[in-house]
Amino acid sequence: MRIDIVTLFPEMVEAVLNTSILGRAREKGLVTFRVVNLRDYATDKHRTTDDVPYGGGGGMVMKIEPIARALDALTAEADAHGEQKPRIILTDPRGRLFTQELARELAKENHLILICGHYEGVDDRVRQHLVTDVVSIGDYVLTGGELPALVIADALTRLQEGVLGDEEAPEKDSFAEPILEYPHYTRPVEFRGWRVPDILLCGHHAQIARWRRQQSLRLTRDLRPDLFNRLTLSAEDRKLLEE
Ligand code: ADE
Repeated sequence: MRIDIVTLFPEMVEAVLNTSILGRAREKGLVTFRVVNLRDYATDKHRTTDDVPYGGGGGMVMKIEPIARALDALTAEADAHGEQKPRIILTDPRGRLFTQELARELAKENHLILICGHYEGVDDRVRQHLVTDVVSIGDYVLTGGELPALVIADALTRLQEGVLGDEEAPEKDSFAEPILEYPHYTRPVEFRGWRVPDILLCGHHAQIARWRRQQSLRLTRDLRPDLFNRLTLSAEDRKLLEE
């Protein structure tokens, strides 16, 4: 999969893409990231990417021309290689909410372009005419679209084949089934009097699996009743919850 990120802050984006699991996936060629500096597509000598809003009011608005030129360059290249048209995503707090379901959908694409919005907003003709999707990572407002683009890139990368080891396989995630992960523990077995649950020390794999399922069900019921109500419980699940 290829993910292009169009941004005014390429150093910030590169730093995250080169770190930890994303950096390793990139090095191994399991995902191709390209960070595009929007300023390189500005048309004037000051390399302007924003301007004052029509109609007045405070703040600046991102101009359409540099974004259009950047997208033209990225899509022309994909066209020349006979690739499918990429999904073009604008990060915006008004967009479709980014969930694990949307992550799974987008992770199947060959090529995505993420545009990081900034300032008071982006000339709305970008949303109307140039992008295929508008995505929000949650109902709060950030200073820019770089963190949302990186959140999306991270969630999609870990779903690519070979990025995670077998033990961390994405099928085991919270939200693969809409249920929360069971609690994890590692050494020491006791810290400040707080002990690891004995069942995890007994070596009985079937009992441990049963306990983990029970913990997942209880946590989901208690912490995320909205998810719990969407679960289809088996007879065994109901028994675990009654214990
Ligand atoms: N830009 C600013 N806030 C955002 C959010 N919550 N999601 C996506 N893009 C944003």
